Amino acid sequence: MNRRSDFPILNQKVHGKPLVYFDNAATTQKPRLVLDAMNQYYEHTNANVHRGVHALAEAATEAYEQAHRTVAKFISAPGMESIIFTRGTTESLNLLSYSLRDRLKKGDEIVLTRLEHHSNLIPWQQAAKATGATLKFLELTPTGELDISALDKVITDKTKIVTTTHVSNVLGTVVPVKQIADRAHQIGATMIVDAAQSVPHLPISVKKLGADFLAFSGHKMYGPTGIGVLFGTKDALTALLPFLFGGEMVHEVSYETSTWNRLPWKFEAGTPPIAEGVGLAAAIEYLAKLGMDKIAQHEHKITKACYDSLKTMDKITVLGPEERGSLVSFTVDGAHAHDVAALCDQVGVAVRAGHHCAMPLHLHLGIPASTRASFGVYSQETELPVLYDALEKAVRLFS
Ligand code: ALA
Repeated sequence: MNRRSDFPILNQKVHGKPLVYFDNAATTQKPRLVLDAMNQYYEHTNANVHRGVHALAEAATEAYEQAHRTVAKFISAPGMESIIFTRGTTESLNLLSYSLRDRLKKGDEIVLTRLEHHSNLIPWQQAAKATGATLKFLELTPTGELDISALDKVITDKTKIVTTTHVSNVLGTVVPVKQIADRAHQIGATMIVDAAQSVPHLPISVKKLGADFLAFSGHKMYGPTGIGVLFGTKDALTALLPFLFGGEMVHEVSYETSTWNRLPWKFEAGTPPIAEGVGLAAAIEYLAKLGMDKIAQHEHKITKACYDSLKTMDKITVLGPEERGSLVSFTVDGAHAHDVAALCDQVGVAVRAGHHCAMPLHLHLGIPASTRASFGVYSQETELPVLYDALEKAVRLFS
Protein backbone atom coordinates (compact mmCIF):
# COMPACT_ATOMS: atom_id res chain seq x y z
CA MET A 1 0.00 0.00 0.00
CA ASN A 2 1.42 3.38 -0.93
CA ARG A 3 -1.05 6.25 -0.51
CA ARG A 4 1.49 9.07 -0.18
CA SER A 5 0.31 10.80 -3.34
CA ASP A 6 -3.25 11.11 -1.94
CA PHE A 7 -1.95 13.55 0.67
CA PRO A 8 -0.82 16.95 -0.67
CA ILE A 9 0.97 17.97 2.55
CA LEU A 10 3.40 15.06 2.27
CA ASN A 11 4.77 16.43 -0.96
CA GLN A 12 7.14 18.84 0.75
CA LYS A 13 10.60 19.05 2.20
CA VAL A 14 11.42 19.82 5.83
CA HIS A 15 14.88 21.25 6.48
CA GLY A 16 15.66 20.33 2.87
CA LYS A 17 14.71 16.65 3.35
CA PRO A 18 11.58 14.79 2.19
CA LEU A 19 8.98 14.85 4.96
CA VAL A 20 8.66 11.56 6.81
CA TYR A 21 5.53 11.92 8.90
CA PHE A 22 5.61 9.49 11.83
CA ASP A 23 3.32 11.44 14.19
CA ASN A 24 0.03 9.86 13.21
CA ALA A 25 -1.07 9.01 16.75
CA ALA A 26 -1.12 12.76 17.46
CA THR A 27 -2.93 13.64 14.25
CA THR A 28 -3.07 12.32 10.71
CA GLN A 29 -2.74 14.21 7.45
CA LYS A 30 -5.77 14.76 5.21
CA PRO A 31 -6.21 13.24 1.77
CA ARG A 32 -7.10 15.56 -1.09
CA LEU A 33 -10.61 14.12 -1.24
CA VAL A 34 -11.38 15.19 2.35
CA LEU A 35 -10.20 18.72 1.57
CA ASP A 36 -12.26 18.69 -1.64
CA ALA A 37 -15.40 17.41 0.13
CA MET A 38 -15.22 20.22 2.69
CA ASN A 39 -14.52 22.87 0.03
CA GLN A 40 -17.34 21.54 -2.08
CA TYR A 41 -19.68 21.71 0.92
CA TYR A 42 -18.76 25.34 1.65
CA GLU A 43 -18.90 26.36 -2.01
CA HIS A 44 -22.23 24.73 -2.85
CA THR A 45 -24.22 23.52 0.18
CA ASN A 46 -23.44 25.55 3.31
CA ALA A 47 -26.47 26.24 5.52
CA ASN A 48 -27.50 25.47 9.07
CA VAL A 49 -29.04 22.06 9.67
CA HIS A 50 -32.47 21.07 11.01
CA ARG A 51 -33.56 24.71 10.93
CA GLY A 52 -34.60 25.71 7.43
CA VAL A 53 -36.95 24.64 4.67
CA HIS A 54 -34.90 26.18 1.87
CA ALA A 55 -32.95 24.08 -0.60
CA LEU A 56 -29.52 24.64 0.92
CA ALA A 57 -30.75 23.87 4.44
CA GLU A 58 -32.25 20.62 3.23
CA ALA A 59 -29.10 19.63 1.35
CA ALA A 60 -26.88 20.48 4.34
CA THR A 61 -29.17 18.53 6.69
CA GLU A 62 -29.09 15.52 4.40
CA ALA A 63 -25.28 15.65 4.13
CA TYR A 64 -24.93 16.00 7.90
CA GLU A 65 -27.31 13.15 8.68
CA GLN A 66 -25.66 10.99 6.02
CA ALA A 67 -22.33 11.59 7.79
CA HIS A 68 -23.83 10.05 10.95
CA ARG A 69 -24.98 7.02 8.92
CA THR A 70 -21.51 6.65 7.36
CA VAL A 71 -19.90 6.63 10.81
CA ALA A 72 -22.46 4.14 12.12
CA LYS A 73 -21.80 1.72 9.28
CA PHE A 74 -18.02 2.02 9.71
CA ILE A 75 -18.12 0.80 13.34
CA SER A 76 -21.05 -1.61 12.79
CA ALA A 77 -23.39 0.50 14.93
CA PRO A 78 -27.13 0.09 14.41
CA GLY A 79 -27.77 3.53 12.86
CA MET A 80 -27.65 7.32 12.97
CA GLU A 81 -29.38 7.37 16.39
CA SER A 82 -26.34 5.83 18.04
CA ILE A 83 -23.82 8.36 16.72
CA ILE A 84 -23.26 11.73 18.41
CA PHE A 85 -20.87 14.24 16.94
CA THR A 86 -18.71 16.01 19.49
CA ARG A 87 -15.50 18.04 19.21
CA GLY A 88 -13.32 14.99 19.75
CA THR A 89 -12.55 12.03 22.00
CA THR A 90 -11.88 14.35 24.93
CA GLU A 91 -15.29 15.99 24.67
CA SER A 92 -17.01 12.62 24.20
CA LEU A 93 -15.43 11.32 27.42
CA ASN A 94 -16.16 14.55 29.30
CA LEU A 95 -19.77 14.31 28.20
CA LEU A 96 -19.96 10.86 29.78
CA SER A 97 -18.15 11.87 32.94
CA TYR A 98 -20.74 14.63 33.51
CA SER A 99 -23.86 12.85 32.36
CA LEU A 100 -23.15 9.62 34.25
CA ARG A 101 -22.57 11.40 37.56
CA ASP A 102 -26.18 10.98 38.61
CA ARG A 103 -25.47 7.24 38.84
CA LEU A 104 -22.49 7.60 41.15
CA LYS A 105 -22.45 7.96 44.92
CA LYS A 106 -19.97 7.58 47.78
CA GLY A 107 -18.57 4.07 47.88
CA ASP A 108 -19.11 3.39 44.17
CA GLU A 109 -16.09 2.56 42.06
CA ILE A 110 -14.93 3.59 38.60
CA VAL A 111 -12.44 1.15 37.09
CA LEU A 112 -9.78 2.38 34.64
CA THR A 113 -6.43 1.03 33.49
CA ARG A 114 -2.90 2.29 34.09
CA LEU A 115 -2.71 2.98 30.35
CA GLU A 116 -5.18 5.85 30.19
CA HIS A 117 -4.52 9.06 28.31
CA HIS A 118 -5.33 12.22 30.32
CA SER A 119 -8.63 12.50 28.44
CA ASN A 120 -9.84 9.20 29.90
CA LEU A 121 -8.42 9.83 33.36
CA ILE A 122 -9.00 13.44 34.42
CA PRO A 123 -12.76 13.47 33.61
CA TRP A 124 -13.15 10.45 35.93
CA GLN A 125 -11.00 12.02 38.64
CA GLN A 126 -13.40 14.96 38.50
CA ALA A 127 -16.49 12.75 38.52
CA ALA A 128 -15.08 10.89 41.52
CA LYS A 129 -14.39 14.15 43.38
CA ALA A 130 -17.89 15.40 42.70
CA THR A 131 -19.69 12.23 43.77
CA GLY A 132 -17.49 10.55 46.40
CA ALA A 133 -16.84 7.58 44.11
CA THR A 134 -13.32 6.13 43.99
CA LEU A 135 -11.02 5.22 41.11
CA LYS A 136 -9.52 1.75 40.77
CA PHE A 137 -6.99 0.61 38.19
CA LEU A 138 -6.31 -2.52 36.21
CA GLU A 139 -2.56 -3.03 36.49
CA LEU A 140 0.05 -3.80 33.84
CA THR A 141 2.23 -6.86 33.47
CA PRO A 142 6.01 -6.26 33.24
CA THR A 143 5.75 -6.36 29.43
CA GLY A 144 3.07 -3.67 29.34
CA GLU A 145 -0.01 -5.79 28.81
CA LEU A 146 -3.05 -5.50 31.03
CA ASP A 147 -3.06 -7.94 33.92
CA ILE A 148 -6.38 -9.51 33.07
CA SER A 149 -5.96 -12.19 35.75
CA ALA A 150 -7.03 -9.57 38.32
CA LEU A 151 -10.23 -8.68 36.45
CA ASP A 152 -12.68 -10.26 38.90
CA LYS A 153 -10.85 -8.79 41.87
CA VAL A 154 -10.77 -5.24 40.49
CA ILE A 155 -14.27 -5.13 38.96
CA THR A 156 -16.68 -5.90 41.80
CA ASP A 157 -20.26 -5.25 42.85
CA LYS A 158 -19.19 -1.74 43.78
CA THR A 159 -18.10 -0.95 40.20
CA LYS A 160 -20.50 1.30 38.31
CA ILE A 161 -18.32 2.36 35.38
CA VAL A 162 -15.49 0.55 33.61
CA THR A 163 -13.49 2.52 31.09
CA THR A 164 -10.43 1.61 29.07
CA THR A 165 -8.42 2.68 26.10
CA HIS A 166 -8.59 0.18 23.23
CA VAL A 167 -5.00 0.79 22.12
CA SER A 168 -2.49 2.60 24.34
CA ASN A 169 -1.12 5.77 22.73
CA VAL A 170 2.22 5.15 24.50
CA LEU A 171 2.84 1.40 24.77
CA GLY A 172 0.73 0.34 21.79
CA THR A 173 -0.90 -2.31 24.03
CA VAL A 174 -4.08 -3.70 22.51
CA VAL A 175 -6.54 -4.13 25.37
CA PRO A 176 -8.85 -7.20 25.38
CA VAL A 177 -11.94 -4.98 25.56
CA LYS A 178 -14.52 -7.74 25.09
CA GLN A 179 -13.23 -9.70 28.05
CA ILE A 180 -13.38 -6.60 30.24
CA ALA A 181 -16.82 -5.66 28.89
CA ASP A 182 -18.16 -9.13 29.70
CA ARG A 183 -17.02 -8.80 33.29
CA ALA A 184 -18.41 -5.23 33.51
CA HIS A 185 -21.79 -6.36 32.22
CA GLN A 186 -21.83 -9.37 34.52
CA ILE A 187 -22.02 -7.01 37.50
CA GLY A 188 -24.21 -4.41 35.73
CA ALA A 189 -21.55 -1.73 35.14
CA THR A 190 -21.39 0.59 32.13
CA MET A 191 -18.55 -0.15 29.67
CA ILE A 192 -16.79 2.79 28.00
CA VAL A 193 -14.04 2.48 25.37
CA ASP A 194 -11.58 5.18 24.31
CA ALA A 195 -10.99 4.10 20.72
CA ALA A 196 -9.03 7.15 19.55
CA GLN A 197 -6.00 4.98 18.72
CA SER A 198 -7.86 1.99 17.29
CA VAL A 199 -10.65 3.19 15.01
CA PRO A 200 -8.17 4.67 12.46
CA HIS A 201 -6.08 1.47 12.36
CA LEU A 202 -8.23 -1.64 12.93
CA PRO A 203 -11.61 -2.92 11.78
CA ILE A 204 -13.95 -2.01 14.65
CA SER A 205 -17.33 -3.43 15.58
CA VAL A 206 -18.91 -1.85 18.64
CA LYS A 207 -21.01 -4.95 19.04
CA LYS A 208 -18.04 -7.32 19.02
CA LEU A 209 -16.25 -5.11 21.55
CA GLY A 210 -19.26 -5.06 23.87
CA ALA A 211 -19.05 -1.29 24.33
CA ASP A 212 -21.97 0.65 25.81
CA PHE A 213 -20.12 3.81 24.78
CA LEU A 214 -17.14 4.30 22.46
CA ALA A 215 -15.30 7.54 21.71
CA PHE A 216 -12.94 8.57 18.92
CA SER A 217 -11.66 11.60 16.99
CA GLY A 218 -11.99 12.63 13.36
CA HIS A 219 -8.54 14.19 13.04
CA LYS A 220 -6.72 10.97 13.92
CA MET A 221 -8.48 9.15 11.07
CA TYR A 222 -7.65 11.47 8.15
CA GLY A 223 -10.66 13.72 8.83
CA PRO A 224 -10.74 17.31 10.03
CA THR A 225 -10.05 18.63 13.53
CA GLY A 226 -13.03 19.83 15.56
CA ILE A 227 -15.11 16.69 15.21
CA GLY A 228 -15.26 13.50 17.22
CA VAL A 229 -17.72 10.74 17.83
CA LEU A 230 -19.50 9.29 20.80
CA PHE A 231 -21.20 6.01 20.01
CA GLY A 232 -23.79 4.77 22.50
CA THR A 233 -26.20 1.86 22.46
CA LYS A 234 -29.85 2.88 22.27
CA ASP A 235 -30.49 1.89 25.89
CA ALA A 236 -27.37 3.65 27.13
CA LEU A 237 -28.14 6.90 25.27
CA THR A 238 -31.82 6.86 26.17
CA ALA A 239 -30.95 6.64 29.86
CA LEU A 240 -28.26 9.35 29.62
CA LEU A 241 -28.93 12.99 30.53
CA PRO A 242 -27.85 15.64 28.00
CA PHE A 243 -24.56 17.40 28.72
CA LEU A 244 -24.94 20.62 26.75
CA PHE A 245 -28.23 22.52 26.62
CA GLY A 246 -29.52 24.98 24.02
CA GLY A 247 -30.92 24.99 20.51
CA GLU A 248 -31.19 21.82 18.42
CA MET A 249 -31.20 19.42 21.40
CA VAL A 250 -34.76 20.33 22.46
CA HIS A 251 -38.20 19.11 21.52
CA GLU A 252 -40.48 21.61 23.31
CA VAL A 253 -39.47 24.60 25.38
CA SER A 254 -41.46 26.84 27.69
CA TYR A 255 -40.14 29.56 29.99
CA GLU A 256 -40.25 27.05 32.80
CA THR A 257 -39.07 23.76 31.35
CA SER A 258 -38.00 21.81 28.25
CA THR A 259 -38.15 18.33 26.76
CA TRP A 260 -35.34 16.76 24.77
CA ASN A 261 -35.07 16.03 21.07
CA ARG A 262 -34.84 12.46 19.78
CA LEU A 263 -31.51 10.65 19.43
CA PRO A 264 -28.87 11.59 18.48
CA TRP A 265 -29.78 15.31 18.42
CA LYS A 266 -30.54 15.30 22.17
CA PHE A 267 -26.75 15.42 22.63
CA GLU A 268 -25.87 17.92 19.89
CA ALA A 269 -26.71 21.36 21.28
CA GLY A 270 -26.09 24.45 19.14
CA THR A 271 -24.91 24.55 15.54
CA PRO A 272 -23.02 21.29 15.07
CA PRO A 273 -19.77 20.66 13.11
CA ILE A 274 -21.48 20.33 9.72
CA ALA A 275 -18.57 20.78 7.31
CA GLU A 276 -16.43 18.67 9.63
CA GLY A 277 -19.08 15.94 9.50
CA VAL A 278 -18.90 16.03 5.71
CA GLY A 279 -15.10 15.83 5.90
CA LEU A 280 -15.19 12.95 8.38
CA ALA A 281 -17.60 11.02 6.16
CA ALA A 282 -15.24 11.53 3.20
CA ALA A 283 -12.32 10.25 5.31
CA ILE A 284 -14.31 7.18 6.32
CA GLU A 285 -15.29 6.44 2.74
CA TYR A 286 -11.60 6.69 1.85
CA LEU A 287 -10.63 4.24 4.63
CA ALA A 288 -13.48 1.86 3.80
CA LYS A 289 -12.39 1.80 0.17
CA LEU A 290 -8.81 0.96 1.13
CA GLY A 291 -10.21 -1.70 3.48
CA MET A 292 -9.53 -1.66 7.22
CA ASP A 293 -8.12 -5.21 7.10
CA LYS A 294 -5.59 -4.15 4.48
CA ILE A 295 -4.73 -0.99 6.43
CA ALA A 296 -4.20 -3.04 9.59
CA GLN A 297 -1.94 -5.47 7.72
CA HIS A 298 0.06 -2.65 6.12
CA GLU A 299 0.60 -0.82 9.40
CA HIS A 300 1.35 -4.03 11.29
CA LYS A 301 4.18 -4.75 8.86
CA ILE A 302 5.87 -1.37 9.23
CA THR A 303 5.28 -1.31 13.01
CA LYS A 304 6.86 -4.75 13.39
CA ALA A 305 9.83 -3.75 11.23
CA CYS A 306 10.37 -0.64 13.37
CA TYR A 307 9.92 -2.56 16.64
CA ASP A 308 12.31 -5.35 15.58
CA SER A 309 15.01 -2.91 14.46
CA LEU A 310 14.82 -0.65 17.50
CA LYS A 311 14.97 -3.71 19.76
CA THR A 312 18.38 -4.56 18.33
CA MET A 313 19.79 -1.04 18.69
CA ASP A 314 22.18 -0.41 21.56
CA LYS A 315 21.13 2.17 24.18
CA ILE A 316 17.54 2.20 22.95
CA THR A 317 14.73 0.79 25.07
CA VAL A 318 11.44 0.04 23.36
CA LEU A 319 8.38 0.43 25.58
CA GLY A 320 5.45 -1.97 25.56
CA PRO A 321 4.62 -5.46 24.32
CA GLU A 322 5.57 -7.03 21.00
CA GLU A 323 1.95 -7.34 19.82
CA ARG A 324 0.82 -3.76 19.43
CA GLY A 325 -1.06 -1.06 17.58
CA SER A 326 0.56 1.14 14.93
CA LEU A 327 3.16 2.87 17.08
CA VAL A 328 6.53 2.37 18.75
CA SER A 329 7.63 4.45 21.75
CA PHE A 330 11.16 4.28 23.07
CA THR A 331 13.81 5.96 25.17
CA VAL A 332 17.44 6.63 24.29
CA ASP A 333 19.93 6.27 27.16
CA GLY A 334 21.18 9.65 28.33
CA ALA A 335 19.06 11.65 25.90
CA HIS A 336 15.89 13.59 26.61
CA ALA A 337 13.05 12.69 24.29
CA HIS A 338 12.85 16.29 23.05
CA ASP A 339 16.49 16.20 21.95
CA VAL A 340 15.90 12.92 20.14
CA ALA A 341 12.83 14.34 18.38
CA ALA A 342 14.79 17.49 17.43
CA LEU A 343 17.50 15.33 15.79
CA CYS A 344 14.80 13.45 13.90
CA ASP A 345 13.25 16.72 12.78
CA GLN A 346 16.59 17.87 11.34
CA VAL A 347 16.40 15.00 8.84
CA GLY A 348 12.72 15.56 8.07
CA VAL A 349 11.27 12.92 10.41
CA ALA A 350 8.28 14.06 12.50
CA VAL A 351 7.93 12.07 15.74
CA ARG A 352 6.33 13.01 19.04
CA ALA A 353 8.31 13.48 22.25
CA GLY A 354 7.19 13.99 25.83
CA HIS A 355 4.62 12.21 27.96
CA HIS A 356 2.06 12.02 25.15
CA CYS A 357 -0.72 13.24 27.48
CA ALA A 358 -0.11 10.15 29.62
CA MET A 359 1.97 11.59 32.44
CA PRO A 360 0.90 9.06 35.12
CA LEU A 361 1.83 6.15 32.84
CA HIS A 362 5.31 7.60 32.30
CA LEU A 363 5.73 8.08 36.08
CA HIS A 364 4.52 4.51 36.55
CA LEU A 365 7.20 3.32 34.10
CA GLY A 366 9.79 5.43 35.92
CA ILE A 367 10.65 7.61 32.94
CA PRO A 368 10.04 11.34 32.43
CA ALA A 369 9.29 11.11 28.73
CA SER A 370 9.56 8.99 25.60
CA THR A 371 9.84 9.43 21.86
CA ARG A 372 7.15 7.91 19.66
CA ALA A 373 6.99 6.94 15.99
CA SER A 374 3.42 6.28 14.88
CA PHE A 375 2.25 5.10 11.49
CA GLY A 376 -0.61 5.53 9.05
CA VAL A 377 -1.80 4.49 5.61
CA TYR A 378 0.93 6.48 3.84
CA SER A 379 3.81 5.26 6.01
CA GLN A 380 6.41 3.21 4.15
CA GLU A 381 9.02 0.77 5.39
CA THR A 382 11.49 2.53 3.11
CA GLU A 383 11.13 5.62 5.33
CA LEU A 384 12.33 3.81 8.46
CA PRO A 385 16.11 3.97 7.79
CA VAL A 386 15.98 7.79 8.01
CA LEU A 387 14.59 7.39 11.55
CA TYR A 388 17.24 4.79 12.44
CA ASP A 389 20.06 7.08 11.23
CA ALA A 390 18.75 9.92 13.39
CA LEU A 391 18.54 7.60 16.40
CA GLU A 392 22.08 6.33 15.86
CA LYS A 393 23.21 9.96 15.85
CA ALA A 394 21.28 10.56 19.11
CA VAL A 395 23.02 7.56 20.69
CA ARG A 396 26.44 8.86 19.52
CA LEU A 397 25.78 12.38 20.82
CA PHE A 398 24.06 11.73 24.14
CA SER A 399 24.82 8.33 25.61
N1 ALA B 1 -3.48 11.84 22.12
C1 ALA B 1 -2.63 12.28 21.10
C2 ALA B 1 -1.27 11.65 21.17
O1 ALA B 1 -1.11 10.61 21.76
C3 ALA B 1 -2.58 13.75 20.99
O2 ALA B 1 -0.34 12.20 20.61
